[in-house]
Amino acid sequence: MNILEVQDLCKTYGKGEARVQALDHVNFSVGKGEFIAIVGESGSGKSTLLNVVGALDNPTSGKVLIDGQEVFSMPEKELTVFRRRNIGFIFQSFHLIPELNVEQNITFPLLLDYRKPDRRYVEELLEYCDYGEVYRKYPGLERTYRNFIRKNFDENFRK
Ligand SMILES: Nc1ncnc2c1ncn2[C@@H]1O[C@H](COP(=O)(O)OP(=O)(O)OP(=O)(O)O)[C@@H](O)[C@H]1O
Ligand SMILES: [Mg+2]
Repeated sequence: MNILEVQDLCKTYGKGEARVQALDHVNFSVGKGEFIAIVGESGSGKSTLLNVVGALDNPTSGKVLIDGQEVFSMPEKELTVFRRRNIGFIFQSFHLIPELNVEQNITFPLLLDYRKPDRRYVEELLEYCDYGEVYRKYPGLERTYRNFIRKNFDENFRK
């Protein structure tokens, strides 16, 4: 059984002279439990592909099936719930929520879904990532704080 099937996927940005065909009839499938990496030169369409496959953006044409379900035939509301329950996305710049601590950032999607987090599983994850000690810290705020210190250092000590 394939967890992901991509069929004849096309994505075009812009019109006329500004038209860019970022995805040009892409076909592939990924089996359950399989890990894959997408490799290609800058501008070859990796981010576009991930955005469409992750249902964050719509294709111009073609199909994406996740666990046998055709993603873009769902109404928007159903797709939002499907995305929340079935797709995990780690962004290059993380996009953590600064007002929430590490543990709350992990459980947030479940709370949005009115589901109770499994405490033992969350603890297991924190331990696995070696986050046992910092689960109450605020990762986003820490970065804001670091930037504040850096800015002040630059302003006061770098001439
Ligand atoms: N929002 C957009 N509007 C117009 N053109 C876009 C948009 N996003 C991407 N493109 C164009 O689509 C093509 C594919 O871009 P994409 O960002 O998917 O490539 P990439 O493989 O992720 O590149 P990189 O390795 O630099 O991240 C590029 O020609 C890019 O300029
Ligand atoms: Mg990219």
